[in-house]
Amino acid sequence: MLSLRGVGYRYAGYSTPVLHDIDLTLADGEIVGLVGANESGKSTLCLVTCGLAPGSIGGALTGGGLVIDGEPMAGKPLHEFSTRVGIGFQNPITQLSGVTGSVFEEVALGPMNLGLTQRDTVERTKEALATLGIEHLAEREPRRISGGQGQLVVIASLLAMRPPHLVLDEPTAQLDPEGTRLVGEALRGLAANGTALLVAEHKTDLLDGLCRRVIVLEEGRIVLDGPAGAVLEDERLIDWGVDLPARVRLARATAAAGIDPTMVSV
Ligand SMILES: Nc1ncnc2c1ncn2[C@@H]1O[C@H](COP(=O)(O)OP(=O)(O)OP(=O)(O)O)[C@@H](O)[C@H]1O
Ligand SMILES: [Mg+2]
Repeated sequence: MLSLRGVGYRYAGYSTPVLHDIDLTLADGEIVGLVGANESGKSTLCLVTCGLAPGSIGGALTGGGLVIDGEPMAGKPLHEFSTRVGIGFQNPITQLSGVTGSVFEEVALGPMNLGLTQRDTVERTKEALATLGIEHLAEREPRRISGGQGQLVVIASLLAMRPPHLVLDEPTAQLDPEGTRLVGEALRGLAANGTALLVAEHKTDLLDGLCRRVIVLEEGRIVLDGPAGAVLEDERLIDWGVDLPARVRLARATAAAGIDPTMVSV
């Protein structure tokens, strides 16, 4: 379980915080969606949740703190965070290590660094590649793959580490519908094994049905936090710069046209 209580954060060199009074709990096995317009603070909140802000990039918390499994994390060295919370960045290509010669090695790097045996490392790596349907990339050079393939490789690396908490910042931004579907399935599998996930996404269709809860950010504040079904149907989402899922748009369109909703299926 990971929680933030009353957390604010300002970037280094700035006096004004970009996050204010954030309360967030990620229970084991729970997938929480994070939505909001551009610049609402999603990426910043992801960085704070995994301890990279302020731990690695500087700046300062302006209140509250991060607690993981009952332990306050203030002042802990970065390696204490990295084994407890995984993170996938908004631009995944920057996350490729740059030191491996093949996608297989790239995905194996994380489990190897955890000190797993060679056998377990190979097993986890194969499983992660298969889960995301990218076994065929195993021998390719990580530098010579497409943006979408790179995104899947980074997610495979995170899956292979099986972190107890995982923060993903727009994990499907560069993926086609099939890649997006496979990532959704993979995240569901990870949560079923106890990982707590925070997933920042503009694609509300992915979050609908995947998340138990959804949080809406506006200008660095949580303006709504509740069960995914209810939040994703909220009238105010469009004002907050968030797309409604197709399911909700269709229901509204049919209602507006006076069509019996039971005659329509998605
Ligand atoms: N490194 C930084 N230094 C200073 N300010 C920053 C930095 N990164 C982001 N910001 C500011 O913090 C605010 C929140 O940005 P953030 O990237 O967290 O938003 P976001 O919701 O992830 O947006 P997007 O949907 O475009 O990814 C913005 O006003 C942004 O300009
Ligand atoms: Mg962002």
